[in-house]
Amino acid sequence: MRGIILSGGNATRLRPCTKVTSKQLLPVYNRPMIYYPLNTLIKVGIKEILIIISPERAGDYLNLLGSGKDFGVKFTYEIQDKPRGLADAFIIGENFIDQDNVTMILGDNIFEDDLSQDIKSFKSGGKVFAKKVSDPERFGVVKFDASMKAVEIKEKPKQWLSDYAITGLYIFDSRVVKAAKSLKPSERGELEITDLQNWYLKKGELEVAMINGEWIDAGTFNSLLAAQILAKEKLQDKLII
Ligand code: G1P
Repeated sequence: MRGIILSGGNATRLRPCTKVTSKQLLPVYNRPMIYYPLNTLIKVGIKEILIIISPERAGDYLNLLGSGKDFGVKFTYEIQDKPRGLADAFIIGENFIDQDNVTMILGDNIFEDDLSQDIKSFKSGGKVFAKKVSDPERFGVVKFDASMKAVEIKEKPKQWLSDYAITGLYIFDSRVVKAAKSLKPSERGELEITDLQNWYLKKGELEVAMINGEWIDAGTFNSLLAAQILAKEKLQDKLII
């Protein structure tokens, strides 16, 4: 299993704080934001981690994280020169992934749950994690049938579809590279991660599990504040870096 942290983007919603640094390096209580998704991957025992960053901020990441030796892992860096969408990470990561399975986590996603067992026991196909939220229009959303089988996945639906958001941690087998290359950009001009999930869903190879603990996408000022509180009150004794 290999790990990818997608940490690019311009984070215009967090201006002016992101004018001089990247969103995922802003503090969340006593650590830079990216330490939280890094903890999630390192706890699993993943040793090879690709960090995808924007060119303007590359120096900041190297200064902060270096080779990975301090954390007992190896970091590889790739530049995403334009925000072409989340699924683009698997095209950028083609050589890194090679024939392995891969877990991608978004650099602004903070999980209370320890997902190590799910990641370790993954064999093939795709696996994602859903959580009931009050603002599903902000996320990729999954609709379940009466037996809680996933039937439809849509990115930020304008019409209400379901209250279940898909969180920013994705486990795929190495076919994800081929799948990502086959995608067409959406109306907003991006390769959508939800289209990749649909690629596996159509084949009957996507598992959607629920998460129980808190989860925060820290991409807005309000969710960043909530992340600070979660980090202080519930995450401190779970962190290994
Ligand atoms: C992205 C994905 C979305 C997912 C969310 C999780 O949205 O496109 O499917 O639910 O991350 O944080 P973004 O936060 O980039 O708008």
